Amino acid sequence: MELHHFSHNIQLWKMNHKCAGRIMRHYIEEQYEDYTFATGSIKYLKQMQMLHAELFRVPMLNWLVWLYRFRSPELVSVALDKEGNLVGYECFMFNDGEVKDNILHGLFVGVTERVQGKGIATALRRFSIKTYDFGNLNALSTVALVDDIKALRSAQKSGYGIEKQSLKPSGHYLVKHLTLGR
Ligand SMILES: CC(C)(COP(=O)(O)OP(=O)(O)OC[C@H]1O[C@@H](n2cnc3c(N)ncnc32)[C@H](O)[C@@H]1OP(=O)(O)O)[C@@H](O)C(=O)NCCC(=O)NCCS
Repeated sequence: MELHHFSHNIQLWKMNHKCAGRIMRHYIEEQYEDYTFATGSIKYLKQMQMLHAELFRVPMLNWLVWLYRFRSPELVSVALDKEGNLVGYECFMFNDGEVKDNILHGLFVGVTERVQGKGIATALRRFSIKTYDFGNLNALSTVALVDDIKALRSAQKSGYGIEKQSLKPSGHYLVKHLTLGR
């Protein structure tokens, strides 16, 4: 990896680690049909990496794995089956361009293939919103790539609205405004 990428990733990691530590999140659990939604934990990190690699066909970026090693409770939501296995995840990070506005970015949402199409991604996004609402963040944002209907619909159905088109990556930039609680 080139040196400037490496140092940029270290800066991003530091900034995310610091800002995540200040998030006021509601650490709740919720039942959705046969699944349990919960805020993240390091114990699901390996399963999340495996599911991510399976769904996106590339490993999760190293600096993100290191971030979630420390900050899963603040930045990750998980969906578990009856046996407690991970079947879905949603993970967040702060971007340089959004952090000044107190916006947290939804980076990935993924549901294991055998249980896709049952509304889990939509419900998990709703769960994440609930955990951050009435806290100290202004909004959540996400990008749905132009041809990714499932990502777009699950975001819109959970309450995100398209605010503009994003160029890099090319897609819809969506925002869910939150209510400040404290
Ligand atoms: C995108 C993803 C998370 C959606 O998960 P899911 O649990 O199947 O989503 P939901 O069941 O909540 O469905 C969301 C919407 O997509 C639609 N949908 C689900 N499966 C679909 C399919 N095979 N074809 C077309 N639409 C589909 C649903 O009907 C729903 O919209 P609607 O109710 O308005 O019709 C899942 O497909 C996935 O993990 N994909 C790989 C990773 C990825 O690309 N993530 C998104 C970018 S970060």
